[in-house]
Amino acid sequence: ARVVVLISGTGSNMAALLEAAEDPGYGATVVAVGADRRGTRGIELAERAGVPTFVAHFRDYGDRALWNAAMAEHISGYEPDLVVSAGFMRILGPAVVGSHPAVNIHPALLPSFPGAHAVRDALAHGVRITGTTIHFLDEGVDSGPIIDQVAVPVQDDDDEASLHERIKAVERRMLVDTVGRLAREGWTVDGRHVRFGRTEQ
Ligand code: GRF
Repeated sequence: ARVVVLISGTGSNMAALLEAAEDPGYGATVVAVGADRRGTRGIELAERAGVPTFVAHFRDYGDRALWNAAMAEHISGYEPDLVVSAGFMRILGPAVVGSHPAVNIHPALLPSFPGAHAVRDALAHGVRITGTTIHFLDEGVDSGPIIDQVAVPVQDDDDEASLHERIKAVERRMLVDTVGRLAREGWTVDGRHVRFGRTEQ
């Protein structure tokens, strides 16, 4: 399967996918890495790995619909079977989400703590268990059908950075597992329920 990965920052989840995809048996190939801003470490990493990259710098567009159209054009050019939003911090509109299946990884157990500050919000709420969720994208914020979740216990001395680091270690494994399975086995979405494997209609 052809996979386009979208990032906004360090790209450690993306790097884990690149590493997994070196194994031909993995089933997915990262055909491009895209970002919504210039100068990210993730794009630098992808370039060094020899993967094609693109940037649609949000501030250059001044208009969300135009930016979305530019993202959609870049993405469609790589003919992806799956788009993976891995630490991509902007909401993708219908131009992207309506054209390609897309998954997102989120550092909390959805539907708790959606949005851009999930780790901070979970800590502030005082939960004892948080974690990570991989889900299909729809047009809402962190709202699409859930594919997998892994729990991460909160430790008494955690701050946002220490908790996020432990969540990210778990995320990288979950992302690699889930994207590989989606690529190799296919999937069906029935309402809010996702199953691996293709069902013959
Ligand atoms: C991850 O925790 C992801 O869930 C969140 O942003 C972080 C990205 O980390 N949305 P990285 O760029 O993959 O290192």
